[in-house]
Amino acid sequence: MRVLITGASGRVGRELVKVFTAAGHQVSATTSATLDVTDWSAVWKALHALVPDVVVNAAAWTDVDACQDDRERAERVNWHAVVHLVEAAEAVGAHVCHLSTDYVFDGRKPDPYVEDDEANPLSVYGWSKLLGERALRPDDTLVRTAWIIPRHGPSIITYLIAQSSLFLPFVDDQRGSPTIASDLAAKVLELTEARLGGVFHVTNQGAATWFELARATMESLRLGPERIKPISAAELDPPRRAPRPANSVLDNAALRREGIALLPHWRESLPRLCDDIVYDR
Ligand SMILES: NC(=O)c1ccc[n+]([C@@H]2O[C@H](COP(=O)([O-])OP(=O)(O)OC[C@H]3O[C@@H](n4cnc5c(N)ncnc54)[C@H](OP(=O)(O)O)[C@@H]3O)[C@@H](O)[C@H]2O)c1
Repeated sequence: MRVLITGASGRVGRELVKVFTAAGHQVSATTSATLDVTDWSAVWKALHALVPDVVVNAAAWTDVDACQDDRERAERVNWHAVVHLVEAAEAVGAHVCHLSTDYVFDGRKPDPYVEDDEANPLSVYGWSKLLGERALRPDDTLVRTAWIIPRHGPSIITYLIAQSSLFLPFVDDQRGSPTIASDLAAKVLELTEARLGGVFHVTNQGAATWFELARATMESLRLGPERIKPISAAELDPPRRAPRPANSVLDNAALRREGIALLPHWRESLPRLCDDIVYDR
């Protein structure tokens, strides 16, 4: 396939470029410097020049707190850009695979969220991503994911490696689905190759609070997990500008329905990722 990957320098984008290239596809990887997805005419020209079979949109403005202060920019990147990409994809006959977030949910459901649960975002970021979702055609692939842990760049792993404080507070009243970026990318490849349309929750299996994730990360790094202390989100100082859902665990129900293998438990993938990151340093 000829594949255009936007946001290719991002946490997920980098892994997507790796897996699509390794699978033998012809990949055009763009960043905000080479294709600004908010620029309608640039998007139109790029898709007409490349005529891709598939567009994988990993471009987004993901700074949840900054989005809260700049709705206009959040909507331009996370919503309007998706409209541009889908319009251009329609014109050249391309399939679109778009990434979205667990933050489209309000977190009030006591159980994991399935794909057709009602979205009701708490934050500007969540709303802008939900509007982006609604720009897709029914046959496009919408992949909602969560709590990405990347191989490259800043992450909870690099943060914890750099800390020397004896006590490290982590929020223990927000629960989500930690997801290793490379595991996610492999499943996006599978869904895209199959051109499976509809909404898919794609996360590593298992849930955690930030406190539980930080403790498990310290264990994997062979540092002292007892240094991680639980706090509530309300105790964060300074407080975060954007509210987060208390529960945003994603049930991968659509993958199960389609008979597609689920990603491993995050506790299985995390130690490997920690070793890779430590080995790199
Ligand atoms: N990170 C998470 O925990 C998480 C959780 C749930 C869902 N997601 C979703 O997963 C997808 C990928 O997220 P990520 O974590 O990889 O985000 P990321 O690391 O912030 O990467 C996003 C990329 O988008 C690019 N971008 C921003 N504005 C752009 C523009 N106007 N034109 C073109 N590119 C632009 C950025 O490129 P530059 O750096 O060049 O500006 C950046 O490399 C997003 O849809 C996000 O909503 C992420």
